[in-house]
Amino acid sequence: MINRLNHVAIAVPNLEKASEQYRVLGASVSNRQDLPEHGVSVVFITLPNTKIELLHPFGENSPIASFLDRNPSGGIHHICFEVDSLQDASQTVVDHGVRLLGTGEPRIGAHGNPVVFAHPKDFQGVLVEFEQC
Ligand code: CO
Repeated sequence: MINRLNHVAIAVPNLEKASEQYRVLGASVSNRQDLPEHGVSVVFITLPNTKIELLHPFGENSPIASFLDRNPSGGIHHICFEVDSLQDASQTVVDHGVRLLGTGEPRIGAHGNPVVFAHPKDFQGVLVEFEQC
């Protein structure tokens, strides 16, 4: 049911500095993309086996603003697993007592694919994103 680790998302206070740190390591670093509908600016770091997404708040009411308030140096915000069927994955975790965030209905995520998020309190303290792809 659960497939590849699609990405690890890291909230950062300074997108340029964070990007440079990965560039120095020889990673493939994308340009900054502003995603107003998600309230974040993103830089994608493509590694051979997965991606790192550097997230920075964009606009008012960004979903990561309070995370950065609590973690001013930045930190791991969520991890994302690929699944074949979001419906099956959602049903399975819900059947095992895991709450989904929001309505629990899939939303279109930062990559244009449907996603749902599981509540970190029900997932060993980790915000988990499932992406159908
Ligand atoms: Co994500």
